Amino acid sequence: MQKVYFVTNENEYKDISQSLAKNYESSAIFALTGGLGSGKTTFTRHLGKAYGTKSTIKSPTFTLHREHEIASKDGQKHYFNHIDLYRIEKKGEFDEIKITPMVKRENIVVIEWADKFKSEIMSMKKYAPIIWIHFEYVDENTRKLTIKEDKQ
Ligand SMILES: Nc1ncnc2c1ncn2[C@@H]1O[C@H](COP(=O)(O)OP(=O)(O)OP(=O)(O)O)[C@@H](O)[C@H]1O
Ligand SMILES: [Mg+2]
Repeated sequence: MQKVYFVTNENEYKDISQSLAKNYESSAIFALTGGLGSGKTTFTRHLGKAYGTKSTIKSPTFTLHREHEIASKDGQKHYFNHIDLYRIEKKGEFDEIKITPMVKRENIVVIEWADKFKSEIMSMKKYAPIIWIHFEYVDENTRKLTIKEDKQ
């Protein structure tokens, strides 16, 4: 299933995010692709709000991985994990982030620059659905989003 959106106003991410958060309640990997400034972090901020993150989502470029606690539905702590692969080159560094245990514990994972480790991410499909979202710059205020949902 593939959906295309032309987003001209950042508020439109709110509706898209709420619908995704409703469809993927327990664990999911949001694999974001697209060039510099195409909107990946902006979207992640809205997606985090839709999942009820308690802390502010900033660009994790220099930290690689930030976790944000989200509202608990079962008494356990669950996290919205924001990962940025921009500065990662080696597979060993990617493996150190340890994404698989995150999704096994019913957490949400958002990965910017997911195409850098596409096959490794695709192999996690057995643990959680993967939602690929590609961002393209159309003009100063417009971005084209192509969403492909890849369920088990
Ligand atoms: N429709 C839109 N969607 C998203 N961002 C937009 C839109 N219109 C304007 N912008 C602006 O474009 C910029 C997008 O930057 P953002 O950090 O979200 O991109 P990014 O894809 O995460 O980049 P990077 O690869 O550097 O991490 C922001 O300054 C944002 O305000
Ligand atoms: Mg970013």
